[in-house]
Amino acid sequence: MKKIAIVGTGYVGLVTGVALSDIGHDVTCVDIDETKVAKMNQGKSPIYEPGLSELMTKNIEKGNLHFTTDHSIAFQNAAAIYIAVGTPERADGSANLDFVQQVARDIAANVSNQGAVVVTKSTVPVGTNKLVKHWITEALDRDITIEVVSNPEFLREGSAVYDTYNGDRIVIGAESEEAAELIEAINKPFGVPVFRTDIESAEMIKYASNAFLAAKISFINEIGTICGKLGANIEDVAAGMGMDKRIGDKFLNAGIGYGGSCFPKDTKALIQIAGGVNHKFDLLESVINVNNKQQQLPLDIAHMVVRGGLEGKKVAMLGLAFKPNTDDMRESASIVLAHKLADLGANITAFDPIAMDNAKRLLPESVHYVASTEEALQDADVAFIVTEWDEFKDLPLTVFEQKMKQPIVIDGRNCYPLSYVETANIDYYSIGRPSVIRAGKSNQPAN
Ligand code: UGA
Repeated sequence: MKKIAIVGTGYVGLVTGVALSDIGHDVTCVDIDETKVAKMNQGKSPIYEPGLSELMTKNIEKGNLHFTTDHSIAFQNAAAIYIAVGTPERADGSANLDFVQQVARDIAANVSNQGAVVVTKSTVPVGTNKLVKHWITEALDRDITIEVVSNPEFLREGSAVYDTYNGDRIVIGAESEEAAELIEAINKPFGVPVFRTDIESAEMIKYASNAFLAAKISFINEIGTICGKLGANIEDVAAGMGMDKRIGDKFLNAGIGYGGSCFPKDTKALIQIAGGVNHKFDLLESVINVNNKQQQLPLDIAHMVVRGGLEGKKVAMLGLAFKPNTDDMRESASIVLAHKLADLGANITAFDPIAMDNAKRLLPESVHYVASTEEALQDADVAFIVTEWDEFKDLPLTVFEQKMKQPIVIDGRNCYPLSYVETANIDYYSIGRPSVIRAGKSNQPAN
């Protein structure tokens, strides 16, 4: 059992801290937000993450997990101090390291354990860990040595607890063998394979992994667009491609683009990192451009199929979060769509199982929020499916027929098998798959 401090209680910090306490370590999480800390001490999670609250309560009760606003309490005798604060995007796309630098100062002022290992979980540009070491040692006024380790996270929001115990790898980048050993030993109970490397490579593995996954999504979305024009079905194409083990069957779901707090930010940051060494990352720039185009797609379809334009039409938006099982709205395709629809004068009624509170801060004020799918669809002229929540996927298609004024469904996440859609009396447009139009209705664009 090790004494561990975690700075920052966002998705990464909180899930990491809770999981480390659950495998038997004595963990103290620090956050500057007093209200948040008081809530967390009662076992209340400030974020929606399946399974997290239960683990929090269990480990607080066991005495393994603590929350404080006081760095000196958290760092007292800590063998490892994890940095898990945000690295938001600057105007030029590069990562803003101000929060990381502040933590380095706090560590210098409060660290008490000789040889304490500072572990960076935050996604930081190549070279940052060494900078962190420099910031800390420069500000230290006591005879204490520290080591730094890059230990990037690969957790998906909505499955972060599951991913912690079932990850594909734990990456440890270190200069010091001893520091790497410590972090490997801390993580051993998770039973996840460990990959050890130097600090710079570990930092790059994180960016390269997210950029590659984003590229996979943009690639399949481009193929989807071509499939749509040629009458092929992207789902079958992706399934056939994915059977090749070199390609793999994951992350080949075509849709209205990736969002969230990671892919959009990290792809831009990697372009900046490449630019810093005079390399223009053409491929990644295209990945981003394709994603931007993809987010416009539902509206392009609506322009083609909603007769008389969208002004004054009642529009239902099903799903607002950037993906299911999270209340996170950051960079969600719903933001682009809602603003464009509002600009066009559409009357938007929206429903999301859990992201509506967060959505209110980001969507146009005119959006009307309702408490159920059925209410959102009532008398709608067109429905957009933005997030593939199970409750939309499980929805009988008769609900669209019965509730909507005109059953035009634009499904940005390919929620229903086409064979099922063909049994329903709706006009259905999805991504990279043939449209299904009501019997007797012409499939001509509206104007
Ligand atoms: C992503 C990575 O998957 C994690 O490994 C990484 O740790 C994390 O970023 C991070 O850097 O912190 P996350 O953003 O939570 O995780 O969500 P994903 O499940 O990867 O989905 C990202 C976006 O891609 C979503 O908008 C999703 O709808 C979209 N997506 C995903 C697709 O459009 N198609 C797919 O096939 C898969």
